[in-house]
Amino acid sequence: MIVDGRNIQFSYSFNAHCFALHDVDISINKGEFAVILGCNGSGKSTLLKHLNALLQLQHGQLTVAQIDVSNQKEIWLLRRICGMVFQNPDNQFVSSSVDEDIAFGLENYEVPRDDIPKKVNSALELVDMTGYEKRTPNTLSGGQKQRVALAGVLALEPDIIIFDEATAMLDPDGRQEVLNIMHKLHTAGKTVIAITHYVEEAVSADKIILMHQGRVLSCGSPEEILTNPELMHEAGLMVPMPVRLYYDLMQAGIRLGRCPLTSEELAEEICQLR
Ligand SMILES: Nc1ncnc2c1ncn2[C@@H]1O[C@H](COP(=O)(O)OP(=O)(O)OP(=O)(O)O)[C@@H](O)[C@H]1O
Ligand SMILES: [Mg+2]
Repeated sequence: MIVDGRNIQFSYSFNAHCFALHDVDISINKGEFAVILGCNGSGKSTLLKHLNALLQLQHGQLTVAQIDVSNQKEIWLLRRICGMVFQNPDNQFVSSSVDEDIAFGLENYEVPRDDIPKKVNSALELVDMTGYEKRTPNTLSGGQKQRVALAGVLALEPDIIIFDEATAMLDPDGRQEVLNIMHKLHTAGKTVIAITHYVEEAVSADKIILMHQGRVLSCGSPEEILTNPELMHEAGLMVPMPVRLYYDLMQAGIRLGRCPLTSEELAEEICQLR
């Protein structure tokens, strides 16, 4: 297991009885594509910020790539192994050109100077941004900024990449580009953990961790979680459109062979009715 957490409890204010996380267990296998799904304020970001020690563990145990996140001595190593991409790429740039920005992260990790240009180039290639090296980050489009921010993370060659609603500010094309990169990384053997409240983005996950009010409500495959309207309703979320249609058709007396998760599966099932 690459992420193994037990009884994680967290409060932003030590005096309050108001917990942002209650007794959360989390386990993610190496190479898995895990999606954390939940409505606003359900504790998704709070939980994932524990994985690279952006928030300090207050209660429970958590290891990431066998590193105890409470071990201050291992924080740099942990953050190199576990990279994080956030929702708003504007807050993630420090330099006046794309290549310098990516190089800055590598310099911080004391990567030998001679190796830096090669690593910068291959990171930009991975996100399809070759040719943008000398551009000023704030002259890029939202989708391009997000890909450069991701290149900055990938240049460090992390084993785990966390996307905290990294597609939320993008248009459908920009979203699709970032989703494609997530899938490419997953196929290349990386562990990808993505937070979203777009249920459609959770359909192709290996595992969904469903959160509500600081707790893990359920954990399972997309079929187990997304086709369960009661469970999704409890989490304050809607099931994907094809699932809604499956139940609407059932009410109307039309029964499909299986509950589809995507529009392609829905079309297949409808064709089977003929
Ligand atoms: N810096 C903070 N200080 C105090 N409370 C916070 C802070 N950040 C989050 N919270 C509270 O912790 C709870 C969980 O928030 P969190 O940001 O983890 O939710 P989320 O699931 O990521 O939501 P969203 O989908 O809106 O990003 C919320 O009640 C929120 O108000
Ligand atoms: Mg959040």
